[in-house]
Amino acid sequence: MEVVNVGLGERSYSIYIDKGLLLECGNRLKNIKTGRKIVVITNPLINKLYGDALKNSLTGAGFNVNFVEIPDGEEYKTIKTAAGIYDRLIDIKMERESPLIAFGGGVIGDIAGFVAATYLRGVPYIQIPTTLLAQVDSSIGGKTAVNHPRGKNLIGAFYQPKAVFIDIDTLKTLPKEEILCGVAEIIKYGIIKDEGFFEYLEGNIKRLINLDEDILIYSIKRACEIKAYVVAKDERESGLRTILNFGHTIGHAIESLTDYKRYRHGEAVAIGMVYAVKMSLESGLCSNKDYERVVNLIKNAGLPAVIADLDVSNIINSLSLDKKVKEEKIRFILMRKIGSVEIRSDIAQGLIKKVLIN
Ligand SMILES: NC(=O)c1ccc[n+]([C@@H]2O[C@H](COP(=O)([O-])OP(=O)(O)OC[C@H]3O[C@@H](n4cnc5c(N)ncnc54)[C@H](O)[C@@H]3O)[C@@H](O)[C@H]2O)c1
Repeated sequence: MEVVNVGLGERSYSIYIDKGLLLECGNRLKNIKTGRKIVVITNPLINKLYGDALKNSLTGAGFNVNFVEIPDGEEYKTIKTAAGIYDRLIDIKMERESPLIAFGGGVIGDIAGFVAATYLRGVPYIQIPTTLLAQVDSSIGGKTAVNHPRGKNLIGAFYQPKAVFIDIDTLKTLPKEEILCGVAEIIKYGIIKDEGFFEYLEGNIKRLINLDEDILIYSIKRACEIKAYVVAKDERESGLRTILNFGHTIGHAIESLTDYKRYRHGEAVAIGMVYAVKMSLESGLCSNKDYERVVNLIKNAGLPAVIADLDVSNIINSLSLDKKVKEEKIRFILMRKIGSVEIRSDIAQGLIKKVLIN
């Protein structure tokens, strides 16, 4: 078992990574000071695939367990769905020390975390992420949210979990395209913080995608370590944490212009990373060699690298509406070299256009 610590003083917690961990969750949870009554928030698909395994593990360890299902899909990450969960928690008489478990992908993690942050002014919660993207990204760091009709993740709170349990066995049922979305985020960590890890990914990308256990565990662990390091330095994204948005500036614009239907989040981030390195190259910040290494790794992973038919002015308009805009300047994360990035708000519109057109 690999363990990564997220060092946040009295809000510190551990990320446990292993195969078969679902069966161990109950016993491990006993070591975390919480109530005996637990609510697992999940969706029908995850519940069908893995609900019994988790339930047996928790009841076997003496917990009193209830499952609350919400429908599957980003369109249900809403305040209305959260309100339905509050109703169930009140019915079940969940108390302030009673923990919630977020059991699913990033959608479940975000909404369950938001409910945990707000129900009774905050109850403990545990993340058991079941997508690769959630395992390397959304389950760590305490960003919780629901969407508003006028924008994604507009309503939320920073609220850290008490623990994260990552069972790589759950990835065996995850569709290939969803695996790739997690791989895009894993590549991102190499680019922003660790050239050695990037090089490791260059040599092992196919085996990672095919879920080779050793490669997968190492890659998840390294990704979690980098995210934990950044979050511990800047929990509320007032500085360093912004680098985790590498590739997300243009990625989000692409997602919103295509109504979140044409690209999955990780695919849009992959395209966004290619444009970010292109911008870095065009601004004279990174070498051509490093630019090519990033593009090649993204392509070798089978991720999309270009958008062909989007209107450049629409992308620029959409960029201006994004949360990453500060004092009316669009913030980009650019690459100096693989393993090192910087936050820039001074990119001329002409350069943005040039990069998007070519
Ligand atoms: N809080 C953060 O820091 C953060 C970071 C990145 C993304 N996010 C959020 O995460 C969400 C995206 O998360 P996601 O990519 O995990 O998508 P998701 O939660 O929608 O899951 C994708 C699909 O995979 C299914 N699934 C999940 N686990 C499975 C498994 N083991 N086997 C088979 N199917 C499985 C889900 O039911 C769903 O249909 C977005 O809402 C995004 O805003 C949050």
